[in-house]
Amino acid sequence: MSTVPHLAPLPPGLVSLADHEAHARTRLDDKAWAYFSGGAADELTLRANRCAWEQLPLLPRVLQPLAGGHTRVQLLGRTLAHPILLAPVAYQKMAHPDGELASAHAAAAQGAGLVLSTQASVSLEAVAQAVRDEAGRGPLWFQLYMQPDRGYTRELVQRAEGSGYEALVLTVDAPVHGARDRERRAAFHLPPGVRAVNLDGMPVPPPRPLACGDSALFSGLLAHAPTWDDVAWLQAQTRLPVLLKGVLHPEDARQAARLNLAGLIVSNHGGRTLDTAVASAQALPPIADAVAESLPLLVDGGLRRGTDVLKALALGARAVLLGRPYIWGLTNAGALGVAQVLRLLRDELEIAMALCGVRTLDQLTPAVLGRHGDRIGP
Ligand code: FNR
Ligand code: LAC
Repeated sequence: MSTVPHLAPLPPGLVSLADHEAHARTRLDDKAWAYFSGGAADELTLRANRCAWEQLPLLPRVLQPLAGGHTRVQLLGRTLAHPILLAPVAYQKMAHPDGELASAHAAAAQGAGLVLSTQASVSLEAVAQAVRDEAGRGPLWFQLYMQPDRGYTRELVQRAEGSGYEALVLTVDAPVHGARDRERRAAFHLPPGVRAVNLDGMPVPPPRPLACGDSALFSGLLAHAPTWDDVAWLQAQTRLPVLLKGVLHPEDARQAARLNLAGLIVSNHGGRTLDTAVASAQALPPIADAVAESLPLLVDGGLRRGTDVLKALALGARAVLLGRPYIWGLTNAGALGVAQVLRLLRDELEIAMALCGVRTLDQLTPAVLGRHGDRIGP
């Protein structure tokens, strides 16, 4: 496959991320749509993620000096042009033939960070090679799913290090998929030609014989699920900073801080794992209270507007990740579509900052939210 993305024109009239969603729905078949847009079970967390950002009222200040304002933030020793990263999303060739390469080019062009999924449909080496020398690109991170064979996991980490990835994001909230009812109703399966290419050749442990009453899940897949000991093991295998993705409980955040992790991504996996888990906007403030002094926090889940990004930063996040919206952009116009989604969100963030009376993101505090203290409405 060429590393130069196809340049499809942008469909007219897409001025918001919601417009991209509506247009993408007309382009994807029912199976791919169920995979990309669905959540777990009754999709309550999926919806709660949106509602929680929407329900936070802003309390703007007026007549503040705004000249020279910008969206720059510091993250893991780098200055980023803005605080928006692309979240790890698997199997992007299902959205567009360029898949993850298009997303990576768009992220680089827009100065956005990129977190490549372990289950990417393009090789991690090809993605890194396509963008690592781009001036002005954002951070390039690799999302790791710990594999049952720890030796194979170590090789994966070494491949990521050797290719130029700058941090590892260990996802810890999905030792098993959630109950994906929407996918099952649509009889979702991967189409031919789309697979997790980075895991080609991975040894699969032989199934253990089950005694009567044993659980195939607990004695199978979950017998290999990572624990805190594996986090320390991973840190010992790599010179790269390690972040955890999928933390919602302040006690887990404290444990992460004790292990000197490089950062935390407050996330419920976009509502795809444990349904009825707390919305990420509601999980963030107690975690910020517990550990924001010790390690940088990022957040994802349901961010669709610049005002959502502003609220996330006001609640203590240093940066945010975007999941489904950039897949809609990818579906609609490949790299150009992803770039437009990023640009729209950043433009909206700048407008929101100006209208709230802040010219830099470090000026944001919970005071910009109405009724600071009790931050979420009933
Ligand atoms: C994901 N997510 C995810 N996370 C991860 O750590 N590794 C992965 O491979 C994937 N794959 C994946 C596929 C699809 C289709 C979706 C929608 C999500 C979760 C993702 O990184 C992120 O946490 C959420 O998508 C954020 O929520 P929003 O922005 O989609 O609402
Ligand atoms: C998902 C996995 C790949 O959410 O993380 O589909």
